[in-house]
Amino acid sequence: MNVHDSEYMATLLEEAGYREASTLKKADVILLNTCAVRQKAEEKVYSLLGRLKFLKKKRPDIIIGVGGCVAQKEGERILKRMPHVDLVFGTHQFYHVAEFIEKVRQNRARICCVDFSYQLEPPRRIIPLPRESKVRAYVTIMQGCNNFCTYCIVPYVRGREVSRRSEDIIEEIKRLLDMGIKEVILLGQNVNSYGQDRSDEISFAELLRRINKLPGLKRLRFITSHPKDISKELIRAFGELETLCEYIHLPVQSGSDRILKMMNRKYTRSDYLRKIESLRKVRPDIAISTDLIVGFPGETEADFKETLSILKEVEYDTIFAFKYSDRPPAKAVTFKDKVREEVKKERLERVLALQAPITERKNKALEGKVVEVLLDTYSKRGNQLSGRTRCHRVVNVAAENGLLGQLVKVKIKEALAHSLRGEVVS
Ligand code: 5AD
Ligand code: SF4
Repeated sequence: MNVHDSEYMATLLEEAGYREASTLKKADVILLNTCAVRQKAEEKVYSLLGRLKFLKKKRPDIIIGVGGCVAQKEGERILKRMPHVDLVFGTHQFYHVAEFIEKVRQNRARICCVDFSYQLEPPRRIIPLPRESKVRAYVTIMQGCNNFCTYCIVPYVRGREVSRRSEDIIEEIKRLLDMGIKEVILLGQNVNSYGQDRSDEISFAELLRRINKLPGLKRLRFITSHPKDISKELIRAFGELETLCEYIHLPVQSGSDRILKMMNRKYTRSDYLRKIESLRKVRPDIAISTDLIVGFPGETEADFKETLSILKEVEYDTIFAFKYSDRPPAKAVTFKDKVREEVKKERLERVLALQAPITERKNKALEGKVVEVLLDTYSKRGNQLSGRTRCHRVVNVAAENGLLGQLVKVKIKEALAHSLRGEVVS
């Protein structure tokens, strides 16, 4: 979501006459779009801002701005702590970024604007242009979250759920397809609740169905889903829609019912496993990844073992595992029995050690197989092209002229730890 919001800001700024600087040192305006989901992300923001102090000392005329979730969470505190920062703007304010910069420039005043506006469309319609790929694009379908998982800061920094109009979404995708985009990734903090905040809207599964029909679209994906909201209609869509890729990211967070309850996740381990089973029934080759947290307050060794056992039971293709960190004002900050840092560290290591051979085995199973890859990046180093399979695995192939941006069949030669290596066969 943040990567895409940055694309949006870059597009707006280009329209206002700005150009991307080739290096940080040459920039007249430096904007940080920030993530607050875990403590480590927030620490990185302050550490980068600390380093920018020296740049501002050398060139006092530059403008430094902080946007996104840390800006939303910290507000004025950033201006107090960091005298070299000129501008702080929240998650609902990024459409106004060019105006903010102009105001700072004209008045040499420092600005902080973190109001929630719940405005999902910019004052003037623009298509945020993808930066990293000419064939893959993100499209925001909804913002915010109403779930209030007790560890999570997102509802506080992104506000309540607001869905965009399906007509606007479809119009945006049509324009992207006209520009040559082949793969669309729908974005939202909780895409499955799409439309539930408005009486005039279709369901998420219906939205997928309509997008699937658009001429020129080859691949459709979405992130992120909440397990409690995976409907039967959505599961059916996985079996029916040709463009919908056989991959889902379905954060489980914990394998223990006791911890899931404390997290306010609103599903049990067996509810979750049933959904996985149904997905695999309609799409046996579906790749599944997950997020999980170790060391949530009160997590005992027995709870943690339940998380290990769910990993063994599901056999995820990949996992993203995190040590719990307090994110005020999230509720779990007040929970007792915080887990010690060494224990969290040890649990994280055990989770990763358990998963590594599962991921490796799943990747190895692809050796010798022919898969479809959308080649969308060229890397000079090693003179190779890379792209992703429909199941979201990275595949590298020797660069061949003219194949960038193409959907090709690739025979997998070797499975490495984080990617696959193959040869183009057609
Ligand atoms: N501590 C650790 N991990 C967290 N996540 C969200 N909040 C926290 C927290 N307080 C993780 C969850 C979520 C992912 C984006 O970040 O696993 O799915
Ligand atoms: Fe956070 Fe839970 Fe909402 Fe996901 S569903 S953004 S974890 S509160």
